[in-house]
Amino acid sequence: SLERFHISEDYGFLLPDPLEELSNYYKPWMEIASNLPLMIESHQLRIRVDVMPLLSCHLLKDRKEQYLAHLLLSFITMGYVWQEGENNIPKVLPRNLALPLVEVSRSLGLPPILVHSDLVLTNWKKKDPDGPLEIRNLDTIVSLPGGESLKGFVLVTLLVEKAAVPGIKALAQAINSVLQSSDDDLLQALKKLKTSIAEMTKALRQMHDYVDPAIFYAAIRIFLSGWKDNPAIAEGLIYEGVSEEPLKYSGGSAAQSTSFHAFDELLGVCHSKESTTFLHGMQEYMPPSHRAFIEEVRSAPSLREYILSSGSCLLREAYNQCVAALAELRSYHISIVATYILTGAAKAKDGGLGHLPEPPQALAEVGTGGTTVFRFLKSVRDTTLARIIDQS
Ligand code: HEM
Ligand code: ALA
Repeated sequence: SLERFHISEDYGFLLPDPLEELSNYYKPWMEIASNLPLMIESHQLRIRVDVMPLLSCHLLKDRKEQYLAHLLLSFITMGYVWQEGENNIPKVLPRNLALPLVEVSRSLGLPPILVHSDLVLTNWKKKDPDGPLEIRNLDTIVSLPGGESLKGFVLVTLLVEKAAVPGIKALAQAINSVLQSSDDDLLQALKKLKTSIAEMTKALRQMHDYVDPAIFYAAIRIFLSGWKDNPAIAEGLIYEGVSEEPLKYSGGSAAQSTSFHAFDELLGVCHSKESTTFLHGMQEYMPPSHRAFIEEVRSAPSLREYILSSGSCLLREAYNQCVAALAELRSYHISIVATYILTGAAKAKDGGLGHLPEPPQALAEVGTGGTTVFRFLKSVRDTTLARIIDQS
């Protein structure tokens, strides 16, 4: 069952009803984390972190508290490192931040940096608890510079994950149908999967309504970027008290979204060697239970082989529609990336929004996850499309 992998019936990979508060002992973290945009913009964050007390993670009672602690500490870390943009980047993350971040990361099986699960999966609340899961009834728990655009970026991504939920259930149904050689059930499952992937594309469209490209490019991206494959901080970051040597971690990216990896595995999509290396590495940035789910899908009997050998035109057609929907989602994502990275860069340079910071140089050519953006994204889209089964 999906529960075994910490996948919720209602919320999929999203953490259901994340905690918003920790006990009083952790107040120093909460006070800083809840004021990040202001502290960063007024150049006060590093000063505040330097006098923050060293707290232990032993009083975190359960997984939900640990997720919230990881969320707070990873956000504070991104603010600390990138407070002055690409200038004056610290070589050392101080021990009162580095030690608890590493401690809670080890407990959760996550890296000690902001990941997709921090930014999105555990970073949401409903304004009206009985209201719907829609942008106007949603808010983030912790924020970073970028105002409403930052919120929009997080919450639209959340809605894409939410739209994937029926697809995750259909995926499980598809695997069971193959195991039981039940072609009718398999056909139903594939139809549900296709609809869910199309809904993800629809959800992604809302990015345009809530996120300003210039703000995204100049103010938001840098706070998601990491210290691996990033020319601005090529040597990595020393986590004081953890290791004398600098450590390297990739920045946050929805390439860490388990939904996409799971669909690829189910449909038997084979990416290029280079893309696979990157995407496989991104699985280390997911909660271990979600990573285990991808492994479970991978080890199931091949859906594609089953369909090829069944000789059923209906099954082939349904499979092809899933593949086509996933390729379409990726094509739409590429157009989003063009808007937010290419047009965003041009608009940020135009200076139409005079108060924006100087955009980061290092991120002109690479994604926050460290890829050469368009080459990577097009390769992944094209290898998806290549799985279409020829019907002639
Ligand atoms: C990968 C940009 C929104 C899902 C990437 C990459 C970039 C990027 C540059 C390459 C990896 C890296 O170096 O980081 C953007 C931008 C977005 C956006 C600019 C919006 C402003 C989203 C959303 C999702 C998403 C909302 C859905 C959850 C993915 C996935 C990958 C990826 C799954 C891995 C490649 C693939 O499987 O096709 N994105 N992204 N992205 N992004 Fe996005
Ligand atoms: N991965 C996205 C970027 O590179 C957030 O901008």
